[in-house]
Amino acid sequence: MLGASVQAAPLMQSAPGPETLIDGVRYLYFGGTSYLGLAARSEVIKAGCEAMRRFGVHTATSRSGFGNSPPVLEVERRAAEFFGTEDAFYFTSGYAANHILAAALAPPDGTVLVDEAAHYCVLEAARSSGLAVATFRHRDPEDLARQVRGKGRVLVMADAVGPATGWPAPVTEYLEALAGQERAWLLLDDAHGFGVLGDAGRGWLDELHLWPRVNRWPSGDGVNLYVAGTLAKALGGHGGILPGSREFLARARSASHYFSGASAPAAAVAGATAKALEIVSSEPELRSRLRENVGQLRGGLRRFGLNVPEGAAAQVGIRIGDAANMMRIHQELKARGILVPYFGTYSGLPPEGVLRFAVFATHTQDQIGRLLAALRSLL
Ligand SMILES: Cc1ncc(COP(=O)(O)O)c(C=O)c1O
Repeated sequence: MLGASVQAAPLMQSAPGPETLIDGVRYLYFGGTSYLGLAARSEVIKAGCEAMRRFGVHTATSRSGFGNSPPVLEVERRAAEFFGTEDAFYFTSGYAANHILAAALAPPDGTVLVDEAAHYCVLEAARSSGLAVATFRHRDPEDLARQVRGKGRVLVMADAVGPATGWPAPVTEYLEALAGQERAWLLLDDAHGFGVLGDAGRGWLDELHLWPRVNRWPSGDGVNLYVAGTLAKALGGHGGILPGSREFLARARSASHYFSGASAPAAAVAGATAKALEIVSSEPELRSRLRENVGQLRGGLRRFGLNVPEGAAAQVGIRIGDAANMMRIHQELKARGILVPYFGTYSGLPPEGVLRFAVFATHTQDQIGRLLAALRSLL
């Protein structure tokens, strides 16, 4: 049977953007993840249509068979360019990214330590690794340090940025906590940081100036850093992405069997995604605009005395009183034509849930101002 939240899911009747048609009403929309605002860009849609016309719906076979269509290879080439890596592996969903990382990296006789509040797909990937699995307290490097003691090879898994809260992982502190291990692998899901954070937009590890260390093979002594994500959030396309060195990606493609045992991403999706990546690379002002909007939203929320997460992610999950109060704020904003989703349950959330605010590069200052003014009157 479907859960209540699934049955009640709203109907999206337009592309996500600052103004979005949902259940027949056009809202000023601050939900979801289309952070760079590319889902409705005409060039992206045109490229998707053109790819479908030329290559059909899909290749109907895996990459190792006849699934290597030109749009799929173009996504990999453009993603490698964007992330500044030798290569990139593109697959149908970011949900699979952590399974691929775990399959490529799980050390024989090792232990997986996973953040207890990580995204569902991180927790599932940890279990699918076939290793013993333990959890450590959410964003708690001291607990991580305690838990790794006495364990030989450890694979540590977490979100780089909380999907519903926006809280970034304390990666520097995790690296310190793991420094005593003879061998450790820190695997991060940066679904929400890719395209948003860092000087080059490569995500949370770019912002921390750790990018040159990621996704290399063979992994050496000490702590090895790995990160994967999705093109379906900021980057304006669809599908999972793993940028990295050629050797590491050869390993990821074969160890996970996603290359040989799953259909390649559909042609239209790949064509649109390749165009979105081209736009993100050639229009850095999109990321600057997003950053300004993130600053305006976060600054406004802070001025109301709310507990705004650290960092500069495009989404923030904020607890404002109890669940009933947040539902009231959600409903009253909605009645004024402004949609800010109330997340009652999602991985990584406190029991009361949060109001999750997402801002896009395409929101205007005035639109964010309208949200803040309406919110202030409801606090
Ligand atoms: C942290 C995180 N990882 C992975 C995913 C799944 O990515 P995709 O939507 O590309 O399958 C999500 C999506 O909600 C997410 O929030």
